[in-house]
Amino acid sequence: MRLSHSLCGAALLLNGALATPHNPHGEGPDKNGKYWIYGEGIAAAFIPYGASISNLIIDDKNDVPRDLIMGFDKASDYAKDESHPHLGGVPGRYANRIKNSTFEIDGKTYRITANENPTPKHPKGVNTLHGGVDGWDWRDFDVVSHTNESITFSIVDPDGKEGFPGEVISYITYTMGKMTWDAKMVAIATTKKTPIMLSSHTYWNLDGFANDETDTIFNHTFHLPYSGQRVDVDNILIPTGNILPNPKGSVNDFWSAPKQIGHSFNDPEIHDNCGLGCTGYDNCWLVNRPAAHDWRADGAYVASLSSAWSGIKLEIYSDQDAFQMYSCNGQDGTFPLKSTQGIDDDDDDDDEEEEESSRTVPQYGCVVLEVEDYIDGINHPEWGRLEKQVFGPGSDPYVLQISHRFSVDKDE
Ligand SMILES: *[C@@H]1O[C@H](CO)[C@@H](O)[C@H](O)[C@H]1NC(C)=O
Ligand SMILES: *[C@@H]1O[C@H](CO)[C@@H](O)[C@H](O)[C@H]1NC(C)=O
Ligand SMILES: *[C@@H]1O[C@H](CO)[C@@H](O)[C@H](O)[C@H]1NC(C)=O
Repeated sequence: MRLSHSLCGAALLLNGALATPHNPHGEGPDKNGKYWIYGEGIAAAFIPYGASISNLIIDDKNDVPRDLIMGFDKASDYAKDESHPHLGGVPGRYANRIKNSTFEIDGKTYRITANENPTPKHPKGVNTLHGGVDGWDWRDFDVVSHTNESITFSIVDPDGKEGFPGEVISYITYTMGKMTWDAKMVAIATTKKTPIMLSSHTYWNLDGFANDETDTIFNHTFHLPYSGQRVDVDNILIPTGNILPNPKGSVNDFWSAPKQIGHSFNDPEIHDNCGLGCTGYDNCWLVNRPAAHDWRADGAYVASLSSAWSGIKLEIYSDQDAFQMYSCNGQDGTFPLKSTQGIDDDDDDDDEEEEESSRTVPQYGCVVLEVEDYIDGINHPEWGRLEKQVFGPGSDPYVLQISHRFSVDKDE
């Protein structure tokens, strides 16, 4: 009772909109172009651009509201940002990388737009990342419905867009519950067989980017209980086709026990672990579960993340069979925090300097958690993923489900 009361007040405050309460009844966007939805003890805001989450607010162990999501204050800033790190959006129609920007369906080779790793010979790039130069998270979705606890976006992706065959129609529904944020993504290939693989590309910091002891996520504890294996990749993160074990105690072992993300950064194997010259994580772990597994069952999360500083814990439940974690190796201290984030500005302002220096996201200052299927499975039929990655008018729809469940550990 007290929590949800303080939360709603806080959400108003954080939104800088005390004078003009933002759509308390779930009707339309607030003055920053954001659509708010609410659950018990939790509030979140979404924008049509990329069907992205832009704020997620819960109270930490000291009842201070924290905004856990990296993004912008204004919805209109997302499309202006040239760095475009796929902030909180839905990468589509095919998330992650496609080798050589090509794939084959029924003996026909399709070439899609390349947008990563340019070379003199291939100035646009040698592979495709997140659906091409105008992938889904670069486009405005339509808002189909918006209530106090739920919002649904839709997109119609035309035949031939970015080189993909056939039209795809997709609905993305986000719902808040009791300390939960759920996402359901459905996509239908209406005219031709095409690859579809979606995800949610959300940047987290469970301290709300306000930890005054560290500005990195090295002390966030991460657990991937089903992930004894990962997808092997080459120097530019393209799958080689091999599946690798994650031996106990190794850099990529997050299965044998929960481990702080920074724990293995002294191990030489962390170098080049996320591509040549890259130190950190940008890896796709497999989620190996028994066939008759109920993905929603309590405790059966595919990943968990927690921070002792805020006491906030996130468990991610999903029907997807792979999981990507990116430790924000590419952040360089230029991305701004939102007005809802950063070190608390206490009653006195003799801390100007510190306040100043903490207004951006440093390298390793965030972590992206992506449920998905085996990356580039479209180019590796030997993995047996085609049924989960290629869809046509006669097939089942593509479905992805995520449940983010939060709890707060109040130290006694
Ligand atoms: C919407 O949710 C908020 C927060 O839980 C609650 O205070 C408000 O009464 C709800 N509004 C409606 C119309 O249900
Ligand atoms: C890359 O794709 C092109 C067609 O777009 C093809 O000619 C070439 O052989 C492919 N290269 C590899 C290594 O598969
Ligand atoms: C925080 O992380 C650093 C780097 O991994 C580690 O050295 C330190 O012991 C951690 N601190 C706590 C309180 O866990």
